[in-house]
Amino acid sequence: MTEKLGDDADELRALRDRYVPRGITTAHPIVADRAQGSEVWDTSGKRYIDFVGGIGVMNVGHNHPRVMAAVHEQLDRVTHTAFQVVMYESYLRLAQRICELAPGDLPKKAIFFSTGAEAVENAVKIARAATGRQAIISFTGGFHGRTLLALSLTGTVNPYKQNFGPYAAEVYQAPFPYEYRGWSSEQALAALESLFESAVSPQRVAAIIVEPVLGEGGFIPAPIPFLRELRKITEKHGILLIADEIQTGFGRTGKFFAIEHSGVTPDIITVAKSLAAGFPLSAVIGRADVMDAPAPGGLGGTFAGNPVACAAGLAVLDVMRDERLPERAARIGSVVEERMRTWSAEHDLVGDVRAVGAMAGMELVRDRKDKTPADTETARILALAREQGLLLLRSGMHHNVIRTLMPLTIPDDQLTEGLDILGSALAEVARVPARSKK
Ligand SMILES: Cc1ncc(COP(=O)(O)O)c(C=O)c1O
Repeated sequence: MTEKLGDDADELRALRDRYVPRGITTAHPIVADRAQGSEVWDTSGKRYIDFVGGIGVMNVGHNHPRVMAAVHEQLDRVTHTAFQVVMYESYLRLAQRICELAPGDLPKKAIFFSTGAEAVENAVKIARAATGRQAIISFTGGFHGRTLLALSLTGTVNPYKQNFGPYAAEVYQAPFPYEYRGWSSEQALAALESLFESAVSPQRVAAIIVEPVLGEGGFIPAPIPFLRELRKITEKHGILLIADEIQTGFGRTGKFFAIEHSGVTPDIITVAKSLAAGFPLSAVIGRADVMDAPAPGGLGGTFAGNPVACAAGLAVLDVMRDERLPERAARIGSVVEERMRTWSAEHDLVGDVRAVGAMAGMELVRDRKDKTPADTETARILALAREQGLLLLRSGMHHNVIRTLMPLTIPDDQLTEGLDILGSALAEVARVPARSKK
């Protein structure tokens, strides 16, 4: 990407090339200077509408005044004691609030960590301790993080798994229902049953982990009947159901937890990302009897559940409630989906539109019959949109899904402005015949 940036940015980008490994890519070659609400400014002063929110982290918007006030207040009191050494109020109050919010009538408990991957790893540890079983089943296209067990559960090779094996033992993968590419719920469930016959007996499975809507996998919602059937299968075999809500969680889909759309109560839920508006915080929430399975000392981490991050988390919950952000997500989603469906009627490039609340995405294909993923076209749209002042991110196993993760606090005029930019970038790329796009 040879975009001319301001002097500062050029110098900083040189530092990046010289001192930061290429393994961590940067989607947009700009340097953030400041951010507020749904807007980001780079070091040259250029302003962008943010449809990414730091990968679904900024549901309450950048620098929400109530979050910042709570953080400042906590900073002046205590910033770290390590919860397993000395406990603090923000952790305990957040545990209570999040347990009260999570679906299910049985008593629940919650434990905090720093990253999503860490939450996933600990959910697996807890499930194994609770069942005395070892095997875990995850789904193709799923993404659960970059640490070794989380990566073992992840169902996309490029770019995540690359040359990082060998992977953790006792991890099995079943197909995720992906109607657009020929995997119905019935087929996916049949494949799961056949996995039980060919690879691992259900009596050896500790947990099945599923994203209610695939995030990195391309914004693919798990059909509600599929989730309900999965719950029945897990109950039948004494398998725990883990809902990985790290990308779906916290209001984005129109409910606090996406799994609530299905009425299914999982045994364990993992959340992270928008939980603390940019402060590193993740959580595992689950049935109290399951959560209490690991023996004392078996869970924790030096920075796990940092007091400042927990204070931010409490403020986030207040903002979500008081500003009715789950409802707002549903409204944003209907606006975005309607625009995407209009584009789909105008351009063959748009192969599929999928949305659950504000978790909306469109899958781009070179031709609608063969559904050849339009990955280079997707990259061009992202670059064009950025030039016009909109930050976007793609996802999907074939890198051809444009997803929207804007703050749920985005004002209507900025939402329209961002969608107009996306529409014009899409139209420009759709105009150029596929052959000349290579
Ligand atoms: C569903 C899901 N699980 C786990 C993770 C890993 O989270 P983290 O990057 O914070 O480790 C992600 C990150 O995108 C995710 O979307």
